[in-house]
Amino acid sequence: MKILVLGAGGMLGKDLAPILSVKNQVWARDIDDFDITDQRRVQKEIEVLEPEVVVNTAAFTDVDGCESKREIAFAVNAVGGRNVALACAATGRRMIHLSTDYVFDGSSRTPYREEDPPNPLNIYGSSKLQGECYIQEILENYLIVRTEWLYGRHGKNFVDTILRNAERQKELRVVDDQRGSPTFTKDLSFALERLIGIEARGTLHVTNSGSCTWFEFARHILQEKGYNHVQVIPILSTELARPAKRPVYSVMDCQRYEKLTGRKMRPWEEAIKEYLS
Ligand SMILES: NC(=O)c1ccc[n+]([C@@H]2O[C@H](COP(=O)([O-])OP(=O)(O)OC[C@H]3O[C@@H](n4cnc5c(N)ncnc54)[C@H](OP(=O)(O)O)[C@@H]3O)[C@@H](O)[C@H]2O)c1
Repeated sequence: MKILVLGAGGMLGKDLAPILSVKNQVWARDIDDFDITDQRRVQKEIEVLEPEVVVNTAAFTDVDGCESKREIAFAVNAVGGRNVALACAATGRRMIHLSTDYVFDGSSRTPYREEDPPNPLNIYGSSKLQGECYIQEILENYLIVRTEWLYGRHGKNFVDTILRNAERQKELRVVDDQRGSPTFTKDLSFALERLIGIEARGTLHVTNSGSCTWFEFARHILQEKGYNHVQVIPILSTELARPAKRPVYSVMDCQRYEKLTGRKMRPWEEAIKEYLS
């Protein structure tokens, strides 16, 4: 299959493009090649390359930065997605788009299903939701994959931050009132490959299985690495006073993915063990 990966220089894209390249012809493109906010350029690239599938992992992902850079957030996460969808519609291509748990407000106490009503708490979530809406309006042949709490070898992420801080500090303060499912970009990449292969459509939730709070995740990472001298102290999100509000509960129900693929994503504990080794 011929696949165009957008956002290929990002944390997910850098794992995804090589994984897809094993069995497919893949073009990996990022902002240095062209900007997805440029509608004409997006259209031209897709016309010239003629991919069968376009995977859009490109996004403005600085969640706190989005609060003060609202225009950029909507330009990339909403209009960028719309541009890709329009180009796919005009050329008859299939579009896979990455979205987020931050479309939900976290008020649920059971894992979010795809059809649960979104209600984003921050600009990042609102811009990603707007992107989803554009794609659903424009295309019939689309797949939106919502995921969360990503970490991988090629990007700034929570796991590496915890390990770096543990080298310098004896005590780490980590929020204990946000629950989610840490997800390894490598696992997500293989899941995306599977979904492309079966031509899955609609909206799907894909994360590693199980859940924890950031505090529990940090403690687990340090235990795995044998950093027993570092104490992890649970704190409330309000103590950090970050610009963007985050949902307290972000766990997503992945049963639709499991039924479609016949596969269950492995537990987050197994995935982080591999990442740390
Ligand atoms: N990271 C998470 O925890 C998480 C959670 C849920 C969902 N997601 C979604 O998963 C996808 C991948 O996330 P990620 O963590 O891999 O993000 P990332 O590391 O920030 O990668 C995104 C890539 O898109 C590029 N980009 C930004 N603006 C662009 C533009 N206008 N045109 C073309 N490319 C542009 C970025 O370039 P620059 O770096 O130069 O800006 C970067 O290389 C995104 O859709 C994100 O919303 C991520």
